[in-house]
Amino acid sequence: MAQIAPGDWIRNTVPLDELDFDALNLKIPVERYSSLGFQEHERTRVWMIVWQIVGRADELPQAGDWKVYTIFDQSFIIVRGRDEKIRGFVNACRHRGNALCEGKGRAKRFTCPYHLWTFGIDGKLQGVGRPDLVGSIDKDAHGLVEVPVDTFAGFIFLNPDPDAKPLAEALGRSVIDGLSPYKLDEMTPVGMDVREELNCNWKVVMDAFSEGYHIIGVHPELLSVIDLQAGNSRHGVYGDHGMAVSPFEVKNTANCSVEQQVQGVRDLPGTFPTVAEVLPMFEQMVNRYRDAAGELMLPKGVTVRTLLQQATRETLTLKGLDVSGLSDDQMGDSQGWFLFPNFFMTIRAGEATTIMAFPHPDGDPNRCVWHVTAYMWLPTAFRAEHRTDLVEVTEPGTYPYFLALQQDYDQMQRQQVGLRNRGMKHISLIREEASVARFHAVLDRYLADPA
Ligand code: FES
Ligand SMILES: [Fe+2]
Repeated sequence: MAQIAPGDWIRNTVPLDELDFDALNLKIPVERYSSLGFQEHERTRVWMIVWQIVGRADELPQAGDWKVYTIFDQSFIIVRGRDEKIRGFVNACRHRGNALCEGKGRAKRFTCPYHLWTFGIDGKLQGVGRPDLVGSIDKDAHGLVEVPVDTFAGFIFLNPDPDAKPLAEALGRSVIDGLSPYKLDEMTPVGMDVREELNCNWKVVMDAFSEGYHIIGVHPELLSVIDLQAGNSRHGVYGDHGMAVSPFEVKNTANCSVEQQVQGVRDLPGTFPTVAEVLPMFEQMVNRYRDAAGELMLPKGVTVRTLLQQATRETLTLKGLDVSGLSDDQMGDSQGWFLFPNFFMTIRAGEATTIMAFPHPDGDPNRCVWHVTAYMWLPTAFRAEHRTDLVEVTEPGTYPYFLALQQDYDQMQRQQVGLRNRGMKHISLIREEASVARFHAVLDRYLADPA
């Protein structure tokens, strides 16, 4: 795809009606949500060969900062080197395989507690316990086994496959160009950074966030901001990945008055918490168009959508952020980005909410671990003071998610209860759920023919 000017980003995506539905299967077999055999295929044919997000670069600010990432029974050490580069290693001592690290920390070197072999943070074997007992050893041949690690948009990606193609190639130009203007690498977790076990398959989470159809049942409060009229949503298809957006625009004022739309924006923080910071500016702008009796009369060309866009641009500019790379569409609308296999993000200027789902370490396909984070774009000087620490929820159901996420949290686990039934053979998607169908089409391609 040719380079797209920032302002044309959404306009260059495809309206739903023009998507190639012949290439999509709308009947998805349910076995994939609860079968151990299916999960085993996913393990070897997807998770062991795919780039996956394993953290944020700012989790490892200094040389020697490390953390462990595990997927199924595979364990990796991710560590920042003295050259600033973040590397990944198989978490196993090259002597007799002892796991070197657990959790996270800061180290000058890794020392295996079994027979005291030591490895540098660059993975090189530095020394062995009692060299007199070991005799001569080829240190170069006994460094930690390295796996591909790279960063994009402030996220650390790892691929367990040593022969993986480069991350930039796996993401593709459109993903990189589409996300770069948002300056995700300058965003910080604010308000929510949570990991919790869920009673549903990891793909139920991905499905739930890949379509807007369910707002009619689960998030009806959004209907005065997003018009679900058929054909309104736009879709970008970028290799394994994709973007879908339903513009924050309600055209039919007979169904939803301008005043109701204004109220819809006021209620947006229930779904997009950081819209709260834009509301004072938004109210000021709206009030300019009220007459003495308080009645709202918007002149031609001014809509609730354009006012939200302007309020966002001004609020962010006043914070000292450079928003010149972002279009008006990006100021208002929340784009839904999906990076295969397990990363979903809603993003609008100044904020993002990310949702990742991982197969449960206990191997039960009816369970997963999700990691949800709200990010805010802040000038460097304010990041540390506003940063929210990671919460690992140990008592299920006790974390106070914001409204929309709580609604999804309840819904997904309820869906798994239904999907476990043997009598249920497949689910039936509708056209509005094209992004769900695409996700499963990509998954099926990996399972049939590993990349
Ligand atoms: S297993 Fe690590 S030093 Fe022996
Ligand atoms: Fe939802």
